[in-house]
This record gives sequence, structure tokens and C-alpha cells, in this order.
Amino acid sequence: MPIYHKLGRIPPKRHTQFRKPDDSLFFEQLFGTIGFDGMSSLLYHHRRPTMVTDIAESIDASPRIAVDKNIHSKKLLTFDVAPKGDYLEAREPLMVNSDLIIGVAAPQQSMRDYFYKNASADELLFVHRGSGTLRTLVGNIPFEYGDYLVIPRGMIYQIEFDTTDNRLLYVESFTPIYTPKKYRNWFGQLLEHSPYCERDYKLPQDLETHDETGDFLLKIKKQGMLHHLHYQAHPFDVVGWDGYNYPYGFSIHNFEPITGRVHQPPPVHETFETSAFVVCSFCPRLYDYHPQAIPAPYNHSNIDSDEMLYYVDGDFMSRTGVAPGNISLHPAGIPHGPHPGTYEKSIGQKETLELAVMIDTFRPLMLTENAMRIDDRQYYKSWIE
Ligand SMILES: [Fe+2]
Repeated sequence: MPIYHKLGRIPPKRHTQFRKPDDSLFFEQLFGTIGFDGMSSLLYHHRRPTMVTDIAESIDASPRIAVDKNIHSKKLLTFDVAPKGDYLEAREPLMVNSDLIIGVAAPQQSMRDYFYKNASADELLFVHRGSGTLRTLVGNIPFEYGDYLVIPRGMIYQIEFDTTDNRLLYVESFTPIYTPKKYRNWFGQLLEHSPYCERDYKLPQDLETHDETGDFLLKIKKQGMLHHLHYQAHPFDVVGWDGYNYPYGFSIHNFEPITGRVHQPPPVHETFETSAFVVCSFCPRLYDYHPQAIPAPYNHSNIDSDEMLYYVDGDFMSRTGVAPGNISLHPAGIPHGPHPGTYEKSIGQKETLELAVMIDTFRPLMLTENAMRIDDRQYYKSWIE
């Protein structure tokens, strides 16, 4: 996150003595990414963040692959995924490759008896249903319908829901998730032609500082394993921090669509990017205004990227038979395009109310056993006239 942010109390000079009222020292931690080259924050803990008391079980949480070389266009009915109590157990990976895991979850309970961090991946959550608070060691972020939450790797967090009816789309990215480079100046500030700006971000607030000792379970996801480590100090014991490495939120409803006289290509919807995939937001917008314009997209050959679309709300203009919570996957190697009738029907229309999240990956996606359980199996034939 290329904005400097700070919460709580920090010493005036980094790497210098910072003392408590009883004259004992706070413990400084540099929390960085990409070695010492990426974004980092300096955290000040009440106690050492290294006080492991026990390393208990390690569970294999890696996705089970059902189809590793896919050529089928797919429709997955993610609302058929049954709700589950626990946040981590509720997460169902659907599509994976060596760069990311894409999944959905319908967790019913807040995380209370453990803490969690993903040590291997940045996480991107999209909130389709539900609201609550993302609680982290660097502050809290309230979330609601339509919010993206970007959680950098290593960030210890708990998630608290207001109700039991929650639906999330999630991504675990093994390379850092950034804002699109084309929208940033040389210093990192978002430019005037960016579809959103710094004011739209939800930055961490209300830093919780728990100066407590006891037995605190931290579940750490690393290399597909879920390790259970017990710590002596409360993980949220930070008294203050500053820097650039922290989670943030962004509402899809604050994405300002870029429109034109003729059909604009998917890159105008780009919201986040990594070196391995992009995330795009398709939001309600006015249609193309050339008098002869065809607002529906042309057929296109994503010959070298897989295209996954998660339908959130509204009537998706180029598709028939898709509903909120559906995922379509159009694999690399074959063209795809509007469904019969939608191309013609779009002519003369003034606006679309569609809301969807698209993820285009540069390497092919494999399908998991979880995905095959919610596969409609017929979608690839849905363009036949
Ligand atoms: Fe497409």
C-alpha cells in the first residue's frame, strides 16, 4: 500500500530506545516484504513476537486437484457451497495454479479461539454477503457488502462477522497484490485517470493493544500446510506502528467505471494486479454512446490467459443463465463471447447494472474436487443456436 500510515504511539526516531512507564523496553519489529526491498512497517510490541511455547499439529490444507488440464468453459454454482461455522474450514478452493488459489467461503462464525496468518500469500477477500470487522495486529477495518480486503502476507488477523449469513470470494496470491501500475505515478500516487483514488481506501483504525500473556493459538498457512503454533503473548500487543505494509479495504461501489463511445476492453476495469494475474471490477455504468455502438463485448480469444468471472449482482449483459454467486471460467486456448441474443439485445441500451469481479490469470487454472461438486456441466455448450 503506497501510503504512509501510522497508529498508536511510536518513538520519534526508529531503532532507538522506546520505553514503557516502568522503564522497560518495547520490542521493535520490522514487518517487511520482498526481503528488505518491499513495503514495510515498524511495529512496537509489548512483548517479544517470538515467544513460541509449543508447535502442535500441522494439517495439510492444500487443494485437491480434479482436473489439471482444462479446456471446458465452466459454470460453478458457488451458492451451493454449504455454510460452515469456522472461517478456515469454510474456505473451499475452486481453481488453482502455481500463482494463486481462488475459492469461496460461507463462514457462519467469527474467529474467536485462534488467530490466523497466511505466510505464503497475500489474501484478497471480496465480501458478497455479510458485514463485520477485520481485526489485525495493526488495526481494524470494518467491512460490508462490496468490499475488497487486501491482506498482505504475514498479517495476523481475526475476522468478526455481524451475522451468520456470509459469502466471500477469496484469493491467495503468491506474489504481492498491488494497485495497477498504469494508474500510479513514479512515486506511487494514484493518477487523475485512475478509476479510484487514495480517499476511497479503508485504512486500519482503532489499534487494539492487548498486553496479556497466556496461551494464544496462531494458525499459520505456509506451503499448503496449516501449522498450529502456541504463543505466550497476545498477538495483538502492538502499542504503535508506522509504515507502508498493512491491510486495507476498498469498496467495489467506489470504482468509477471508464466508458467510451465504443466498447471498452476489460483492462479499463482493472482494480488490482500482480505479476501473475489481474483483478477487474465490472460495475454499473453507462453504455457506449457511438450511434452505431454494440455495447456487448465482441468474441475474444484469451489465447494465453484463463478468465474467471464471479457474478455479484444485476443482470450481466453478455450472459444468459447466470445468477449471483455463479462463476464462469473461460479457459485459455479457445475464444468466448456473448451468449446468443445478448449481442443484439445490447444495441440501443443506455446502461448496465451488472456487478462482477473478474480474475484473469496468465497461467492455466486447475479445477479442484470442490469445483467439480458445484459444476453445472452443461455451460460449455451454452453458445449453440
Ligand atoms: Fe472475456
